[in-house]
Amino acid sequence: MLNILGIGAGYVGGPTMAVIADKCPEHKVTVVDINAEKIAAWNSDHLPIFEPGLDALIERVRGRNLFFSTEIDEEIRKADLIFVSVNTPTKTYGQGAGLAADLMYWEKTARQIRANATGPKIVIEKSTVPVRTAVAMERILNEKDSPIHFDVLSCPEFLAEGTAIRDLEVPDRVLIGGRHDTDSGREAMKKLSDIFRHWVPEERIIHSNIWSAELSKLASNAFLAQRVSSINAISAICEKTEADINEVSRAIGLDQRIGPHFLKSSVGFGGSCFKKDLLNLVYLCQFYGLEEAAEYWMWVVKFNDHQMNRFVDRILKKMFNTINGKRIVLFGFAFKANTGDTRESPAIYVTKRLLEERAEVVVTDPRALDNARRDLEGMPVTFAEDPYEAVRGAHAIAVMTEWDLYRDLDYQRIYDVMEKPAFVFDGRNILDHKGLYEMGYHVFPIGKKALSHFDR
Ligand code: UDX
Ligand code: ADP
Repeated sequence: MLNILGIGAGYVGGPTMAVIADKCPEHKVTVVDINAEKIAAWNSDHLPIFEPGLDALIERVRGRNLFFSTEIDEEIRKADLIFVSVNTPTKTYGQGAGLAADLMYWEKTARQIRANATGPKIVIEKSTVPVRTAVAMERILNEKDSPIHFDVLSCPEFLAEGTAIRDLEVPDRVLIGGRHDTDSGREAMKKLSDIFRHWVPEERIIHSNIWSAELSKLASNAFLAQRVSSINAISAICEKTEADINEVSRAIGLDQRIGPHFLKSSVGFGGSCFKKDLLNLVYLCQFYGLEEAAEYWMWVVKFNDHQMNRFVDRILKKMFNTINGKRIVLFGFAFKANTGDTRESPAIYVTKRLLEERAEVVVTDPRALDNARRDLEGMPVTFAEDPYEAVRGAHAIAVMTEWDLYRDLDYQRIYDVMEKPAFVFDGRNILDHKGLYEMGYHVFPIGKKALSHFDR
């Protein structure tokens, strides 16, 4: 039996440790966080994050072999393996500001582990970190006069929010980066692999050196983000021609070498990883003097900003170049469906730009309103739980998040209470555009012909 500790009870740490506990009933898994409120929420019926399947999973394992606690020091002492999933936000000050990851929380955690450990431990990086973070971690932990040896491994998390439980239960691969050149390094990798072997087929557990593991995570996210930006770049051409982005996506996605994923055109990508990891990669390139590589990846970020701007520009232009005083309802605020997370959500940016134009913004979302209220604190925005309430007297609807709920609303009922002309800007291409047009709406999807006689 092992004592497994997770430090950081966020979107990554919470679900990851819960799945480990579920799959390894003989081990004891504890999750700690400096945020006592968050731990209290994990111990209550109202978990701090929404994730399909998470409630049932927690119900099953909490109190059995999964525990949430704020006793960080004590849990460090007891732990054999420590997964670190603390946040690594983009640095806002000093060298690398706006690009590099802020490793403040990381370093604090490393020092806390060293201060409390009374025996050897395996420390596993779970949060996304810039390449070579493990060196820093190792140096802090294995100081010259420290009698205790620590092995540092990198096991980057590839889960996506909204499908986190499935991604953890049936992962494409589990990547374990460590030191092959020492006995204890090899043993640590084996110990960690043994945990995953409980439910992950052998061939999906991949070993690499620690730097490859760290870089693979940044690279995967950069590639995915790049695909979204690529298809969004094509959407701009579609809007100028008779091409239809869905038809184009389908056609290129059927090419086996390309595949169908991450080809849905949108108002832009969001989430806590893509932008942060791209910027990290840019910083890394700059650090090593690779200016062109840095610029190359920077353009993926810039193009995403451009796509969000294009969306707002279109709203403004189609609504006769003024939205001052017009009521615009955002359908969805989360950065994608099936999560309440709003970090880097395009909706934040779109709201700010609409407010600059003095529009009256109303926000509705089935899961993300609490986060939206925090993101937009102090801004003159109205929030509504019920989409039918939100649209009363509205001039336009802008779909920001692809929640199924928005597909199935009664749009005739909505049309009846909106101002005319009634506009729909579908930033996710999820609505029945033709049906809406027939009801009388002026419909502007992404990368498709507009359905509006104003557009002729
Ligand atoms: C991502 C990675 O997928 C995951 O492996 C990593 O560990 C963390 O970052 P996540 O941020 O949860 O996961 O979201 P993801 O599903 O990748 O979507 C990112 C953004 O791209 C979302 O805003 C989404 O709406 C957008 N997107 C995705 C598109 O606009 N079009 C697509 O086709 C796919
Ligand atoms: P992610 O999406 O990477 O999981 P989150 O912000 O959701 O990011 O979670 C990170 C968690 O780590 C937060 O709950 C934060 O309070 C916690 N955390 C940060 N620093 C420490 C620390 N030194 N010890 C314990 N928990 C920490």
